[in-house]
Amino acid sequence: MSEAILLVGGQGTRLRPLTDSMPKPLLPLAGIACTTHQLLKAKAAGVTRVVLATSYLADVFEAQYGAGEELGLELVYAVEKEPLGTGGAIANAGQFLNGNGPVLIFNGDVISNHSLEDQYRVHEESGAIATLHLTPVEDARAYGCVPLDEKGRVTAFLEKMDNPVTNLINAGCYLFDRSVIEGIGLNTVISVEREIFPELVKRHVQGYISNEYWIDLGTPEAFTRASADIISGRAFSPALGQLNLEFLADGADVAPGAAITGGTFLDKGVKIDAGALVHHSVVLADTYVGESAKVENSFVGRGVRIGAGVRLKNVAIGDGVVLSEGVEVPEGARISA
Ligand code: GTP
Repeated sequence: MSEAILLVGGQGTRLRPLTDSMPKPLLPLAGIACTTHQLLKAKAAGVTRVVLATSYLADVFEAQYGAGEELGLELVYAVEKEPLGTGGAIANAGQFLNGNGPVLIFNGDVISNHSLEDQYRVHEESGAIATLHLTPVEDARAYGCVPLDEKGRVTAFLEKMDNPVTNLINAGCYLFDRSVIEGIGLNTVISVEREIFPELVKRHVQGYISNEYWIDLGTPEAFTRASADIISGRAFSPALGQLNLEFLADGADVAPGAAITGGTFLDKGVKIDAGALVHHSVVLADTYVGESAKVENSFVGRGVRIGAGVRLKNVAIGDGVVLSEGVEVPEGARISA
């Protein structure tokens, strides 16, 4: 498992306006891009070379990571002019692979504490052509589910249903034999979940179940939760080690009498005025939170001004938004400048 493909080309529509200028995988969790957390996890498991499958805002990735020297990895970019879907992206990125053995393929919007080494061992021992990380969820109705036989072999990929036959879902991390990647048509829009896996099941796809921490970062709520989980040590990332901090304030200016709680992350240049409360939230660089304002479970972009007394709950605020004193913001709102 020395080579990997990281899928980071999606538009992140559910995270707008946060993804208007920043691709979802580069949004910070505990102050560090999700992609960095993921690359360092792969490196810790023995990966040395990663092809980043990019499309939406592709240039931003190369500008941030270059050839990977800083991370101690070899990074290569496979850019899709038009997004090819997750399957088409894998085929396109496959042209840039140059090693041997199974390839690790992972979605760029997942934080997981499962063991890649264990998943690899299961792949090798089972003789499968693909091995899929599966995670149990409380309510599988919102997802497609993935039933297994008694030997852990995947028997089907089932679409969302009212009575799922299992609570195991696809966790977005795969080991593929190279022949599988080579078998996907080039320059075709294709989904790995909906089109490729149902075909591969007819051959041999193995399931690897893990109960470790797992989160899909599809929404602002999930992003905020994952950031707080990393800060509080509930989730582990090799990018940070085990922090167990209540909050991270990197050059932030917090007035006496302001409360920062619940694994909040404050970026550099953030200023929090007296009596304000920021709970379980992410606040990006150069944002100002006014006196006695209350920000809960929210993701706030760069250079935002939140006026005195403004209350925000479960909201996503894009860069540069100004919320004057007295403004009422409905719970769950998405606001862009
Ligand atoms: P939404 O638009 O909010 O659904 O988010 P998304 O665009 O990220 O889609 P989704 O969550 O289904 O994507 C799962 C993973 O695959 C993410 O890491 C995406 O970046 C990636 N991805 C999705 N579509 C493509 C694509 O067409 N090309 C590439 N290279 N990656 C993709």
